[in-house]
Amino acid sequence: MNTIHITTPSKNYPVFIGENVIDELKTVLENLKPSPKNLLIITDENVGNLYLETVQSVIGDAFTHETIQIQAGDDQKSFENYMACQSFALSKELDRTSVVIALGGGMIGDLAGFVAGTYMRGIRFIQIPTTILAHDSAVGGKTGINHPEGKNMIGVFHQPEAVIYSTDFLTTLPPNEKRSGFAEVIKHALIADENLYRSLRENVKTIDDLKGDSLQKALIQGIEIKNAIVTKDEKEKGIRAYLNFGHTLGHAIEGELQYKDITHGEAVALGMLFALSLSGDTETLGKELKMWLTTLGYPSFPKHLSASSLIKRMKKDKKAEKGMIQMVLLNGFSKPYLSPFTSEELESKLSSFIEEV
Ligand SMILES: NC(=O)c1ccc[n+]([C@@H]2O[C@H](COP(=O)([O-])OP(=O)(O)OC[C@H]3O[C@@H](n4cnc5c(N)ncnc54)[C@H](O)[C@@H]3O)[C@@H](O)[C@H]2O)c1
Repeated sequence: MNTIHITTPSKNYPVFIGENVIDELKTVLENLKPSPKNLLIITDENVGNLYLETVQSVIGDAFTHETIQIQAGDDQKSFENYMACQSFALSKELDRTSVVIALGGGMIGDLAGFVAGTYMRGIRFIQIPTTILAHDSAVGGKTGINHPEGKNMIGVFHQPEAVIYSTDFLTTLPPNEKRSGFAEVIKHALIADENLYRSLRENVKTIDDLKGDSLQKALIQGIEIKNAIVTKDEKEKGIRAYLNFGHTLGHAIEGELQYKDITHGEAVALGMLFALSLSGDTETLGKELKMWLTTLGYPSFPKHLSASSLIKRMKKDKKAEKGMIQMVLLNGFSKPYLSPFTSEELESKLSSFIEEV
């Protein structure tokens, strides 16, 4: 087992990562002060069917626990499910000592974290990530839900007590979810670690290569990159915005597709290619990345989406300022920066990009 210590101004906490580290859950719960009156496990149907029993058996009789299982899919990160979780928590009389357990990928982590961050003005929660993508989402304390007007528009910063990342849970991920999570690993490598990028490029020839020790090593490196950034800028007043590399367009694509038909990371991958095409310094890297992503089976750009509707969504991005769309670009490996564009300028660049890819 490996332990990474996340340090932020508001909270320090461990990430336990490795095969079967789910067993750590019991110790983590026993060490909580005050001891929780009860636990609320929030999961989705897919993950619940696969891993709920394992988690429940680790908890055993030591703590009373309730479970709410919601449908899978990013469109479920919704007001309706937020309300359903809060109502369930109230009906089961969770109090301020109670603890929410987020068992699932980023969708569940964001929703359950937001439920915990706002129930009775904030109770504790533990992340049990089950996707590759969640090496990113489970760390750093961003929680929230989608609004029909935009992704992740409603939320709070709320750090977990611990992250328990049992990598044996990742073996059941379907290929498109492996691709989704791997896009965020590539993002971390591009914005902060050229050696990691080169090593992944060399060793990941097919999506099935994402397994075992090499996957675990890449996840640890990704988490460490994220930790280094959120340690310096927990609330995204500055450099944390670089973690949104690929996300401004990625979120717009997801929104236009109603959070269906494409995974989060696959949309982010397209967003990264667009961002790389915007700077002369990274055009070649963008072309090389596109070839690699195509080999790994990433989807091509959904050509039925129009540049103008995507730009309308990008204008509503949380980073947009004074009508300008802020794009995260790279000057090269590990050299991210924010670059403002007018919507007209970006729309014309996006139209050309869509034609060419
Ligand atoms: N908070 C953050 O900092 C942050 C960062 C990046 C992404 N996100 C958010 O994360 C979300 C995407 O997360 P995700 O990609 O993990 O999606 P997800 O949670 O929707 O999971 C993807 C799919 O895989 C299934 N699944 C999960 N674990 C599985 C397993 N072990 N075996 C088989 N199937 C499994 C789920 O049921 C779902 O169908 C988005 O909402 C995104 O906005 C948040």
